Amino acid sequence: MVVMSVGNGSMPMRWVEPGRCVVNVSDGALENCNGRYEKRLADLSGLYANQMAFDSLLRESGNPVVYSVEDYRLSSKPGDLIFGLTSMAPGYVGDEFFLTRGHIHAEADRPEIYYGQNGDGLMLMESPDGESRIVEIRPRTICYVPPFWIHRSVNVGHENFVMTFVYPADSGQDYEIIARSGGMKQRIVRTESSGWKAVPNENYRPRTADAVQRISKGVA
Ligand code: NI
Repeated sequence: MVVMSVGNGSMPMRWVEPGRCVVNVSDGALENCNGRYEKRLADLSGLYANQMAFDSLLRESGNPVVYSVEDYRLSSKPGDLIFGLTSMAPGYVGDEFFLTRGHIHAEADRPEIYYGQNGDGLMLMESPDGESRIVEIRPRTICYVPPFWIHRSVNVGHENFVMTFVYPADSGQDYEIIARSGGMKQRIVRTESSGWKAVPNENYRPRTADAVQRISKGVA
C-alpha cells in the first residue's frame, strides 16, 4: 500500500491500489475478482412464458448453472467503478432463449457498458415507459446501456455468451422492477430458421405515469 502525505501535512492519505484482472473466456472466470454469484435454473422460475416447459427442463436437467457473474469491486462510492465478467450457458425454455433476471439500476440514472467476449447474444432494454431496444452483441461489440434503461441479456447462440461490464460503483440494482410489470415487454424466442425474434409478452403490464415519473426522477 502506497502512503503519501496530503498538502497540509496533517493526515496521511491512503491511495486505492490499481487492479489487474484477466478474463478467462473458456471458464467464464475473471482472475483476481473479489465477488461472485451464480444463478441456477431453479432460481429463474417465473421468468419464462412456458412454465410447463420450465418445470420439465428443471426435472430433466438437474438444475444447471445458467449464468455466473464475477466482479471486482472495492467500494460503492460515487465516482468509483465496478467491473466484471458474466457468462451464460446456451439453451431455451420452450422456445424462449436463456436470459438473465435483468434489472434497472437502483440509482436509475447510472449507465453501463458491456463488451462481448464470446458467443452470440442480445441486450434487451426497456425504458420505464415501455420503449424496447435490442442490441446484438458478439465478440468485440461494445454495448452502451444509457441511464434509466432496464436491461437483461439473452444468449441466442450455441456457445457460452460471455461479456465484460463496467458501471458506476454506486449504481445498485433493482431486480423487482421487471416482476412488478409481469416481465419485460418483449420476449426473445427461436425462429424456425434457428434465428431469434422478439415477440410481445402477454403478461406485461405497463407502468403508470406516476411510476415512470418516480423512476426517471422527472427526466421523462
Ligand atoms: Ni446493470
